[in-house]
Amino acid sequence: MEYNLKELRKKIIADKKDYESFKKTYLGTDGFVKKALDNIKDIPKEEKASYGKEINDIKQLCIDILEKKRVGVTQKNNEKIDPTAPFDINTAKDKRPEILDLKGSKHPIHKEVERFIEIFKSMGFDVMESRQLDDDYHMFESLNFPKGHPARDMYDTFWTEDNFVLPAHTSTMQNRAMKEFGPPPIRAVLPGRCFRNEATDASHEHTFYQIEGVYVDEGISVGNMQATIKAFLEAYLEKELEVRIQPSFFPFTEPDCEFVIGCPFCSKAGCSVCGHSGWIELMGCGMIHPNVLSQAGIDPEKYSGFAWGFGVDRLTMIKLGIDDIRYLRDSNLNFLKQF
Ligand code: DAH
Repeated sequence: MEYNLKELRKKIIADKKDYESFKKTYLGTDGFVKKALDNIKDIPKEEKASYGKEINDIKQLCIDILEKKRVGVTQKNNEKIDPTAPFDINTAKDKRPEILDLKGSKHPIHKEVERFIEIFKSMGFDVMESRQLDDDYHMFESLNFPKGHPARDMYDTFWTEDNFVLPAHTSTMQNRAMKEFGPPPIRAVLPGRCFRNEATDASHEHTFYQIEGVYVDEGISVGNMQATIKAFLEAYLEKELEVRIQPSFFPFTEPDCEFVIGCPFCSKAGCSVCGHSGWIELMGCGMIHPNVLSQAGIDPEKYSGFAWGFGVDRLTMIKLGIDDIRYLRDSNLNFLKQF
């Protein structure tokens, strides 16, 4: 065994795999670190402690190498591109640079949305895409924001001159989904593009994607909400997660929660993904407010339900190790070719 761990360490240091396959090979659910850990039962009692410590060191080594690879992805994206054609347009086809023959491919956001939807479908959810131009009723009224209510300021977005709105979140679709898929039981996910009046930075964009979820039936509780969101996140991140909810504020839920997971990258030790806090706030959620159910013609005395809305870009960034949201809208080929 002693010998094996030494070999494993050498293999890890020499391994040039990219971020995702490196992570899968060593830290995945069937990865080498997990296998080495499973072997601990065969180790003689007196050697167990040092064997365990060595595995922990190896795990940390993998985390450190992964962090370097993440930074590498970002640095590559900063490389300047030369937009001039480095060949004469009349050059014979077989002598032209390879890039001209590249076929188009799906954008990483698109691929991840497909993955999210596949998971939710496997959990029995219906799907309806949100609109990119909506109205005051769906943006606010149907979600329990009366006219003139100060909570409307939380969602500063763009309006057309004739009073249509570019939705600031996919919650605009809750009312439509409940009418479309009702009467309960209702299980629906609502992916869509959202817009906010933002000064952009590494974690804020004026245009981004969300996936809303609504679940309504008799006797639905916060426990159902927590279990459903956890099951989805574990399927997506391919890890068992520690989760918690903490208080927040939204006019359209009661109680209003923030869904938080223990950082799956550093096992809560603190790293750049979780801002060294050990925890990552992933989405707003809560029990659907009775007024919101009534607006959709559902009797809140009989039914209850939960809803959530998460940022597709944010979850994608966490999974793929992208540290600036603006790359996702840049159309930079050097960036896109990596996915
Ligand atoms: N729409 C909220 C936002 O973008 C997120 C959210 C919170 C959605 C709670 C929900 C919910 O469905 O129940 O800030």
